[in-house]
Amino acid sequence: MKKIFYMLICALMLVSCGDGGNGQAPNIKTSTKTVHAVASNSTRAKVFLESGGDSYIVSNSGTTLYGGTGNDTVTIADGVTGVTIDQNVEQINFSSSLSNYKFLQTGNLINVYDSAGSTLILSSPVQGDSDGAILSFSDWSASALMASGGTMTLGGMTVSSTAANVLIPNTATTTTTTSTTSTTLSPLPGADGTALYNSNCSGCHAALSTSSKAGTTASNIQSAINGDIGGMSSLSSLSPTEIDAIATALASVVTPVTPTPVCGSCHAIPPSTGQHSRHRSKGVSCAICHGSAYSTTSFNAATHNNGIKNVVSTIGWNSTSRTCSNSCHGNERW
Ligand code: HEC
Ligand code: HEC
Ligand code: HEC
Repeated sequence: MKKIFYMLICALMLVSCGDGGNGQAPNIKTSTKTVHAVASNSTRAKVFLESGGDSYIVSNSGTTLYGGTGNDTVTIADGVTGVTIDQNVEQINFSSSLSNYKFLQTGNLINVYDSAGSTLILSSPVQGDSDGAILSFSDWSASALMASGGTMTLGGMTVSSTAANVLIPNTATTTTTTSTTSTTLSPLPGADGTALYNSNCSGCHAALSTSSKAGTTASNIQSAINGDIGGMSSLSSLSPTEIDAIATALASVVTPVTPTPVCGSCHAIPPSTGQHSRHRSKGVSCAICHGSAYSTTSFNAATHNNGIKNVVSTIGWNSTSRTCSNSCHGNERW
């Protein structure tokens, strides 16, 4: 149970109960171990949390709440508005999910509005310290922080100082409270070389089946790590057993032999298209029309088999009319 002695009604004590506008707690302590709730009426309460940490649910709109020492957690009940909480509260809980609120910075205050951005739910100062206050929603929670330049952030997202806006967290900054079970896999003798390769090497040397290091030896791997080849010193924690296992996995990779197709396997030399045979029978070489690197036995690797039929400009080739116009003959169809 909370040790809250709520509702010391002092309708006639507005002046003495009030903070006089200076943010100081009024001097009405009734006990040293007490949360003081001073209400002038149900919608204008002042609540003082006791020292040593406490949790408190704000169920009245218009409540002004002062935290004590220790970790104070305050929950703003559904539908409650116009709450002011001082900087001594460590965590403020909201009933709904983050997307149902809008946020606005005014000075050092973080103002939390309803989803329409019209009703102020909370106003609370954010300090420029490293942990700030945690605002917690049903699906998300994060610290509100004040950077030295005066920029306020919540979970790393800048809180607008011009208009109340929704905040959409990057999933990477989302704090979820699901518990994860982590299992530490310790390599056994006969470590799984394939798994080790996949987690340590594939990012730089491709998948195991197509590894650029297929067939390499354990000593090659070790010296690449020792010599920090390509930044591989980051793998220095791999044990000799693990490196052996990786080398074994790499040794099993059969490098597929890519057969080099011979001339004539993709197209005839020359093809039977157009006026190829007519020109060839007159001894016109492939190079005259396709460029100097081409012959019946060679091609220009830079332009060959790239989806573009390359012909030199001197033959006056018109790909639309599929004609050649040049000094050998006038305009002729291909
Ligand atoms: C951060 C990227 C990176 C990672 C991770 C990495 N390497 Fe390398 N590795 C390189 C680069 C870059 C070179 C130098 C260029 C080359 O040989 O491909 C290299 C070179 C090597 C060499 C020496 C050259 C040779 O062929 O003998 C071997 C062996 C090798 N790597 C194996 C591995 C193995 C096995 C792993 C995993 C345990 C691994 N590398 C992880 C980037 C990396
Ligand atoms: C008189 C000029 C000429 C000569 C000589 C010539 N070609 Fe062509 N070649 C062409 C033209 C024109 C095209 C059609 C280009 C187009 O469609 O854009 C072509 C197209 C090709 C194509 C693409 C496939 C096709 O049928 O369109 C191949 C392959 C080809 N030539 C191979 C050869 C070879 C090999 C030789 C030598 C043995 C040769 N050419 C000699 C003019 C020539
Ligand atoms: C793997 C299939 C393939 C093989 C093998 C091949 N070619 Fe081609 N060649 C093509 C294709 C496809 C074209 C059509 C144009 C293009 O894509 O570059 C072409 C076009 C050409 C051309 C027209 C110029 C050009 O690049 O467009 C010549 C000439 C040619 N090949 C000569 C040869 C010769 C000589 C050989 C053997 C040394 C050869 N080709 C082997 C696929 C092949």
